[in-house]
Amino acid sequence: MGTKEQLLALFESNKGVYFSGEAIAQKLCVSRTAVWKAVKTLRSEGYNIDAVSNKGYCLSVTSDILSVQGIQKYLNPLCSDVKLAVFPVVESTNEMVRKEAALGTTEGYTVIANEQTSGKGRIGRSFFSPSDTGIYMSMLLRPQNYSSQQAVRITTMAAVAACEAIEAVSDERAQIKWVNDIYIGEKKVSGILTEASFGLESGLLDYAVLGIGINVYAPKEGFPKEIENIAGTVFHTSHNDGKNRLAAEFLNRFMAYYTARDQTDYVEKYRNRSMVIGKEIQVLFAGKSEKALALGIDENCRLLVRYEDGREESLSSGEISVRFS
Ligand code: BTN
Repeated sequence: MGTKEQLLALFESNKGVYFSGEAIAQKLCVSRTAVWKAVKTLRSEGYNIDAVSNKGYCLSVTSDILSVQGIQKYLNPLCSDVKLAVFPVVESTNEMVRKEAALGTTEGYTVIANEQTSGKGRIGRSFFSPSDTGIYMSMLLRPQNYSSQQAVRITTMAAVAACEAIEAVSDERAQIKWVNDIYIGEKKVSGILTEASFGLESGLLDYAVLGIGINVYAPKEGFPKEIENIAGTVFHTSHNDGKNRLAAEFLNRFMAYYTARDQTDYVEKYRNRSMVIGKEIQVLFAGKSEKALALGIDENCRLLVRYEDGREESLSSGEISVRFS
């Protein structure tokens, strides 16, 4: 770790606390000039660092910039294999992690971006990923002996983890619109895109890239017209450490489900958070849509539906729409 990174770790773990240049220099075993340079660089990256004579430097408690150090301070030991890399702007975190996966990078590699220029959504859609207001995160997973059916668990575990993380940092109640959308009230605040690669002969999962985007704050220019009636945010006002903490809460919870011996334990939680059971929905498939009643969610998180003609089906993937009344 360079001086800037070490200084940020010190500041992030002691927000609002003043450290003299000399004390920092001693702690980090560097010169005072090096401390001053690191402060200058952090300021140029947007960190609000106060400097008061006789007191020293202090990172503002209100600072909320995504960083490895800002997230790491909240991570629990279950995340010891999570290797974080945080970038100000990337095209797509899923794409970055996919490239790493192809190079043989180990499980746990996680990219988080403050902005995406080509954020990917499901079924070829884009995911609006403006700067400073969201969390755009992708994690490389290499679970052993996962069939395609088991691979769906990654998305559904992540959905439960996202709801729990949102509730841990806010006063909101988060629900799941099968299979991968997180809602607060009638607004979508988060979407999940898991992309997987399977072995040709084994049919087993080679690797998966779990991608999640969370709208934490309202974008400065508002949401684009196409999604302004659907999209919502976790917070309506700024929260100290809102993004770093939310990212960490998600990782803590996801890793707890992912590493659990009984990986079906979360299914009941997924079911309880479903906002579609008992509702009339439209099942969208191959450009068509059909009215159905959502009956329930089975042990593999498949959605059980009954169409108007009485046919019943369990859906393992696909898209549904639900009307709020
Ligand atoms: C959806 O709602 O359709 C899924 C959206 C998934 C968006 C996330 S943001 C981080 C990761 N990188 C991407 O390019 N997409 C996913």
